[in-house]
Amino acid sequence: MIKGFLFDLDGVIVDTAVYHYAAWKKMANQLGFDIDEEFNETLKGISRMDSIARILEYGKMELPEERILELATLKNDWYVEMIDQMTEENILPGITDLIAQIKENGLKMALGSASKNAPRILDRIGLASFFDAVVDGNSVSKSKPDPEVFIKGAEALELKNEECVVVEDAFAGIEAAHAAGMKAIGIGTTENLPNADLILTSFEGVDLQDLIDQKLS
Ligand code: G6P
Ligand code: MG
Repeated sequence: MIKGFLFDLDGVIVDTAVYHYAAWKKMANQLGFDIDEEFNETLKGISRMDSIARILEYGKMELPEERILELATLKNDWYVEMIDQMTEENILPGITDLIAQIKENGLKMALGSASKNAPRILDRIGLASFFDAVVDGNSVSKSKPDPEVFIKGAEALELKNEECVVVEDAFAGIEAAHAAGMKAIGIGTTENLPNADLILTSFEGVDLQDLIDQKLS
């Protein structure tokens, strides 16, 4: 029986996935190479330092640790500049209504994100108080597809893993949910998320009870 929702943040609640992509692309361009959308799919759900390692490997660059840390800070400065412009208008379609339905039905919800900027974003868009727990990049040590973030989310909600459903836009995030024994709703396309238990383009018009009874049981 589903008793709780574990939400990824970037690309699920807000479209910050495009900001991450823009900032990483700018960094790669300054280093003299480019990244495309296909490669960017492999960065979704991956921590800041693991992302930069993958990007440098993709660009066939080896840099000293100190320079890598400098670049990570620079990328984050660009990213924070973008998220600091956000308001509740940036919440993705159907999310506010879904949260209302979760609350009305007495279900619990937690955030399960790799981002260290998650609390800042939740504050900016006015959703912080709706979450019963927040597990983010400040409290996990392993990137998705490791299930750590969702296992900690279920624990924080005092639910069994199988009582939680994960909402994700990343292939690695769906893998993480499955590794934790949870079902996963993918926000995206079957092409990007062939591993999802159910694919939606958004939550617009979605009835929570119908979703649970018909699609997730
Ligand atoms: C999420 C995003 C990734 C991002 C990671 C770390 O998982 O999908 O693209 O790299 O968080 O975010 P941060 O805000 O801590 O750099
Ligand atoms: Mg995401």
